Amino acid sequence: MESSCLNYSHVLRKPPSVFSSRKVKLQQWCTFPFPLQKKNTTKITSFYLNGTFSTSNRKSSLFPKCQAVSIENAVSVHSEIGNEGIGIVSFLQGKNFLVTGATGFLAKVLIEKILRTNPDVGKFYIIIKARDDEAAKERLINEIVNTELFKSLQEIHGNNYREFMLKKIIPVLGNVRETGIGIKPEIAREIAEEVDIIVNSAASTTFDERYDVALDINTLGPYRLMSFAKRMKRLKLFLQVSTAYVNGQRQGVISERPFGLGDTIASEISSSNYCPVLDIEEEIKLAFSSTAKDDASNVQEMKDLGLKRAKLYGWQDTYVFTKAMGEMIINSMRGEIPVVTIRPSVIESTLKEPFPGWMEGNRMMDPIVLYYGKGQLTGFLVETHGVLDVVPADMVVNATVAAMAKHGSCTDPGMHIYHVASSNVNPLVFSHLANIMLEHFSTSPYMDPAGQPIQVQPMKLFHEMSKFSDFIYADAMEKSAKVAGPVSNERVSDRLKALCMKLVEQAKYLATIYEPYTFYGGRFDNTNTEELIDEMSEEERENFQFDVESINWEDYIANVHIPGLRKHVKKGRGMP
Ligand SMILES: NC(=O)c1ccc[n+]([C@@H]2O[C@H](COP(=O)([O-])OP(=O)(O)OC[C@H]3O[C@@H](n4cnc5c(N)ncnc54)[C@H](OP(=O)(O)O)[C@@H]3O)[C@@H](O)[C@H]2O)c1
Repeated sequence: MESSCLNYSHVLRKPPSVFSSRKVKLQQWCTFPFPLQKKNTTKITSFYLNGTFSTSNRKSSLFPKCQAVSIENAVSVHSEIGNEGIGIVSFLQGKNFLVTGATGFLAKVLIEKILRTNPDVGKFYIIIKARDDEAAKERLINEIVNTELFKSLQEIHGNNYREFMLKKIIPVLGNVRETGIGIKPEIAREIAEEVDIIVNSAASTTFDERYDVALDINTLGPYRLMSFAKRMKRLKLFLQVSTAYVNGQRQGVISERPFGLGDTIASEISSSNYCPVLDIEEEIKLAFSSTAKDDASNVQEMKDLGLKRAKLYGWQDTYVFTKAMGEMIINSMRGEIPVVTIRPSVIESTLKEPFPGWMEGNRMMDPIVLYYGKGQLTGFLVETHGVLDVVPADMVVNATVAAMAKHGSCTDPGMHIYHVASSNVNPLVFSHLANIMLEHFSTSPYMDPAGQPIQVQPMKLFHEMSKFSDFIYADAMEKSAKVAGPVSNERVSDRLKALCMKLVEQAKYLATIYEPYTFYGGRFDNTNTEELIDEMSEEERENFQFDVESINWEDYIANVHIPGLRKHVKKGRGMP
């Protein structure tokens, strides 16, 4: 420990309890409840205050539960020089993983990152849905080993790349919808002996998924995996990939709190005395008893049922409701198993690693971006000053790895929640996003089939559904008239109107599904995630970056994300 005199200013996220009133007179040493980490790897553990200090009560703004204090008048600081950080690299050495959802977007980025930065890691047993073992292996090769995402590893390992990958990644035929996640007994025994960390990334991410399917994957999937986890001999951590939107219709700054069994958002936000009681078993019975007839009409019925049940309990859609119930199940079953729940907001393409702009699938805001770029969608229903909470995939992965190392290396059980989200610390406002899109597609336009650049206009943002649908109808009519020329035939004119009405209905449906997100009233606090950064060494912060505050949205959206989307998802179609 060393003592030094300095004029130091910092806002504490969790100030010592001594700061309980707005103005305090102090002449004493104060010890932090945790060391305050400075970027130069100095750990400040205590400071001496001399004089009167103002504390700002920020309960209603950024930090709902604590006060903040500037310690610029601290006259003396005790500090520890040198910081080993979390020990991410040493933690990962030799660890074996069981991963679900590895053929999906996010888990693939996670596996790539770990294999690239920690070639001494153990094995990844990845659960793959397939006809048989051979087909599962084929999916591993086609959807992971041979993909562009892994090109850095291909360069590193050269001719040995395929051998390296097949030694590290073991495809396991399975399905989280089946008892025992559908794994054959021999491999289940091996996994139970070998695995240190479970990463559950499998999900149905469709907002309006049929209720029975969403429950089976997002709620019962975690139940089946946690049951399997109980058999594991050396398990150190269960890591659940959830979503920040499990917070449902909570408003304001939303802290990183776990769910207890049967918690509902409705009971938190409702002003009425009556609140429906959530019983997950009853929900499962309800959904599964309704599936007796499995025909096409039943699909819509089951979708409607999911949305209805979600809204009843205070969630916006079936996806987030069933994910929240998945968290509840894990929390109620975990016992002595340490659990980390990562809650990212909307995950978009990689910011930096393994290279900028890698993306898979046409997700969340992307269909709107692409329709806009092609001139097919000139307006949308959003809260103009509202915020779209976006995070790059590599930042989500880095936060996941850091949290994994932190909680996997201590024997302390518990449920540790991490929001990986930008809305509270670095908000991307819709009107700003619209301007960035305009700028991008004005300078790098899509080409029409005749090879001519498609001109885009500023996107019109609507607050009300009626105005939005009127606009879409008028726009569709105008475009159709341009294509069809003057219409004298009444039958053709009726057909055009019907077509435009159909477009309006589609746009309205899209807007309705997105509405809970484009008018979202909450901002995700990420105090735990920021504290994780504070605990990292300088080297770890460099190699596992997830400081969302540092994202420059113009640069990321215009120069990284949209080009990545056009290149990797749309495969360069419509580019000059
Ligand atoms: N993408 C986002 O913006 C976002 C945002 C916040 C949170 N999250 C969460 O992040 C996680 C990963 O999302 P993602 O975007 O990577 O999803 P994704 O690309 O849709 O991938 C989903 C994965 O789950 C697997 N899966 C689905 N049903 C399964 C089953 N019955 N048994 C085994 N595996 C099954 C899929 O396998 P198949 O390939 O066989 O279908 C796929 O590998 C999810 O838990 C999601 O809730 C995503």
